[in-house]
Amino acid sequence: MPKSIVGGNWKMNTTLQEAVSLTGLLKDNLKVSQQEGVVLCPPFVYLSAVKDILRGSEIRLGAQDVYFQPKGAFTGEISVGMLKDIGCDYVIIGHSERRQIFKEDNDMVNKKLKSSLQGGVSCIFCVGETLEQRQENLTEKTIRQQIEAGLDEVPSDRYNQIVIAYEPVWAIGTGKNATPEQAQEVHSFIRKLLTHLSNEIVAREMTIIYGGSVTADNIQSLMEGNDINGALVGGASLSADSFTKIVNIIKNSRP
Ligand code: PGA
Repeated sequence: MPKSIVGGNWKMNTTLQEAVSLTGLLKDNLKVSQQEGVVLCPPFVYLSAVKDILRGSEIRLGAQDVYFQPKGAFTGEISVGMLKDIGCDYVIIGHSERRQIFKEDNDMVNKKLKSSLQGGVSCIFCVGETLEQRQENLTEKTIRQQIEAGLDEVPSDRYNQIVIAYEPVWAIGTGKNATPEQAQEVHSFIRKLLTHLSNEIVAREMTIIYGGSVTADNIQSLMEGNDINGALVGGASLSADSFTKIVNIIKNSRP
């Protein structure tokens, strides 16, 4: 059975004070057993402050992006070693906002994935189709290309360090989540694809999470999908109350 993962992707939000207070509330709200598999992804500049508060808790720290080179003249970028150094266990790679706004292609995503795994930081690897691609029946083709290219040259014995996040672009920040059926359909497709790329035992254990307008009101039904092992939450992760509810629902929906 795959481990359930709930990520809070804060994106470019919060002040330092808000980041500190949100983290403190989550640490207090969630019991230790509920904290397992919870990953907070604040902006880079607040990672250390959040890490300090998380000491003594099971909640994990994640970054929202990384650059694939180990060091050097790459103004503005952050390496895997730096993330590791300040205590990040996870990094989000290939988020649709990075792909769309910052023009990251599958090749860049692949380089980032490989260097993160090499550096011992687990990846939350995001894939998802646009509305046009869905309307043109290109959902599976798009996801297949993103996953095959993203995982190119990644040995399958590293797959246990990868969480796949299915985030349909049309559902992100729009308030229009995928229906549980739509999500399960793609998650099951992803698991089949992973079986093909590795084997059944590896693919069966991989965590595949859904993202895109997840709220405390819709997560219960989304979790009914057999291949939905958690969520990557944007907007609703900025409130301790709603993120706590989402974590609790996810934790209670699995034995
Ligand atoms: P959202 O964002 O929950 O605000 O739709 C999800 C994400 O982008 O990871």
